[in-house]
Amino acid sequence: MGVSPADGGRCICAARFRLVSLDAMHVDDALKARISIRSFLDKPVSEAEVRQILDVARWSPSGGNLQPWKVRVVAGAARQAVTDLAVSVLAQNPAGESEEHPIYPPKLWEPYRSRRFKIGEDMYALLGIPRDDKPARLQWVARNYQFFGAPVGLFFIIDRGMGNGQWAHLGMLMQSIALAATARGLGTCMQESWAMVRKSLHAHFQLQDRDVVYCGMALGHPDPESSVNTLRSDRAEVDEFAMLDGF
Ligand SMILES: Cc1cc2nc3c(=O)[nH]c(=O)nc-3n(C[C@H](O)[C@H](O)[C@H](O)COP(=O)(O)O)c2cc1C
Repeated sequence: MGVSPADGGRCICAARFRLVSLDAMHVDDALKARISIRSFLDKPVSEAEVRQILDVARWSPSGGNLQPWKVRVVAGAARQAVTDLAVSVLAQNPAGESEEHPIYPPKLWEPYRSRRFKIGEDMYALLGIPRDDKPARLQWVARNYQFFGAPVGLFFIIDRGMGNGQWAHLGMLMQSIALAATARGLGTCMQESWAMVRKSLHAHFQLQDRDVVYCGMALGHPDPESSVNTLRSDRAEVDEFAMLDGF
């Protein structure tokens, strides 16, 4: 179907519906199927596929339609360069570079503390790494900087002048990308661990002074044989986080 200026609005919708029907995945199914994938096949994802995913995800909402996001995508040598960068930066400074925007608030409180603890314990149990094996746990964490073997890495960047609202809107873009990837049989893992090298990434990508690297994301074909990909995280029940009135 061609897009003419006269019916542009409808055609955009038509194009988007066509894409949904091609992929034949209900959004509810995509929401439930999306999990963090932490082991990928050595199988490339084409630039065309990445572009298609970004092309649908750009329809994510943002307050005032600011679209307060920038994305850097790396594959091949560009991916290897950021991996090498992270390894060398963290070898020199294991404490990392996340002071400006800490990954978690200090001294996490309940119920968040227990939730964080549980997902970590569940993951390490699947990996067969005991709690007291610090070196093995650190080695696993370091897999983040290999994108867990994914062929593509994405980095999400925001203007540091933006407020909490705009950071939330960037998160909507990230979730949209993850869902669009899921609908195409691909897997993702959001990776705030890249915040540990965000200053170095800023320099590496020659970003503007105002820009800050928030988060990374691994994108690739999930390894169906990998035990860590069987990890299923819990969620609070609806009535634990929502109060419905007036029905
Ligand atoms: C913004 C964000 C950053 C994350 N950073 C990491 C990370 O650096 N490494 C990692 O293994 N998982 C990371 N995760 C994955 C979370 O641990 C995961 O989403 C959560 O445990 C729920 O599991 P699920 O994604 O499988 O539903 C991140 C998730 C989000 C939303």
